[in-house]
Amino acid sequence: MRSVGFGVVGAGVIGRIHARNLAARRDADLRWVVDVDEARAAALAAGHGARSSTQLAAMLDDPSVDVVVIGSSTDAHEGHVLACVAAGKALLCEKPIAGSLEGARRCLDAVRGAGTIAAVGFNRRFDAHHRRVHDRVRAGEIGTVEMLHFVSRSPQDSEPAAAARAGGMLREKGTHHYDLACWLAASEPVEVYASGGCLIDPRHADHGDVDTAALVLRFASGALATFAFSRRTGYGCDEMFEVNGSQGMLRSERQRALGVTLWKGDRVVADGLHDGWYERFAPTYVAEIDELVAAVREGRPVRPDLEDGMRAQAIAEAAVESLSHARPVAIRDTWGAG
Ligand SMILES: NC(=O)c1ccc[n+]([C@@H]2O[C@H](COP(=O)([O-])OP(=O)(O)OC[C@H]3O[C@@H](n4cnc5c(N)ncnc54)[C@H](O)[C@@H]3O)[C@@H](O)[C@H]2O)c1
Repeated sequence: MRSVGFGVVGAGVIGRIHARNLAARRDADLRWVVDVDEARAAALAAGHGARSSTQLAAMLDDPSVDVVVIGSSTDAHEGHVLACVAAGKALLCEKPIAGSLEGARRCLDAVRGAGTIAAVGFNRRFDAHHRRVHDRVRAGEIGTVEMLHFVSRSPQDSEPAAAARAGGMLREKGTHHYDLACWLAASEPVEVYASGGCLIDPRHADHGDVDTAALVLRFASGALATFAFSRRTGYGCDEMFEVNGSQGMLRSERQRALGVTLWKGDRVVADGLHDGWYERFAPTYVAEIDELVAAVREGRPVRPDLEDGMRAQAIAEAAVESLSHARPVAIRDTWGAG
């Protein structure tokens, strides 16, 4: 079977992860790297035997490119998604889809209109533990979903200006977990209440951001999800969630970096958590491309898709509004087909 041709736009943190994973595949070829930073694109492309350009059109004009991974800065996503759709390429767009809900909707409409195979980069859905919990919830093992609880605490705080440029905590960190909640609850989100503060670094407030937050999300089914977010643990990447149902509870546990425990004298010392999000979730970036390659080969839709991305982005925008007005905010259905 012919290998699937890929291009990557954006040669930064996430672009480098995707490029490395694509170059290591047997069923895919990394053919192009595009970045407005010429040297950056050239260095990444050269490291993997690909061609490089500062112009997206150069990559899109190449018929051997089947799929484009959009890992550029968020404010460039919309133009890149629309160009890929017009060129007939499948795509994976990193989250968030666009810098605004309106921009994200234009992307969603274009993808729907053209029937483009379009994934969104919610890699956590591909974590083996998370997926097992999801599948067992769907199989009815815990009955009707009533409550969900998510913990996401980053190991180290980010520089406030950079954190704000990335969208702020309720968007950047939040969208991954809102998406997991919707996936697990299998119900539409209707209302969110967010509270937060700057307990770690007061400078986040200068950018309208927080470093510590607690949220409550209500679904149409009546189920409730709560989220505990922090920008700093000092003990590694701390993530877990649990789903409570009418007949039991399923939890996706905190994963230790190594499954080794020392038992000595009166102490039991277990290995700690992973150093960061990449170390914790590295296999999920490979698995999301597995799914995309399969979808492209089979000519079928892929999940999570741009609709999932738009739903999570709508929750994030309502959460930001809730935080600033200190009240629950209804979530507008901006992702529906209507
Ligand atoms: N799924 C995940 O776990 C995850 C992790 C990190 C980042 N992201 C997302 O990926 C995106 C990129 O984040 P990053 O941390 O890699 O950022 P980054 O700043 O490290 O890299 C972005 C790259 O895009 C390039 N770029 C900007 N505008 C461009 C344009 N018009 N055309 C071509 N290239 C352009 C920049 O020069 C830069 O090299 C963001 O949307 C971010 O939210 C997702």
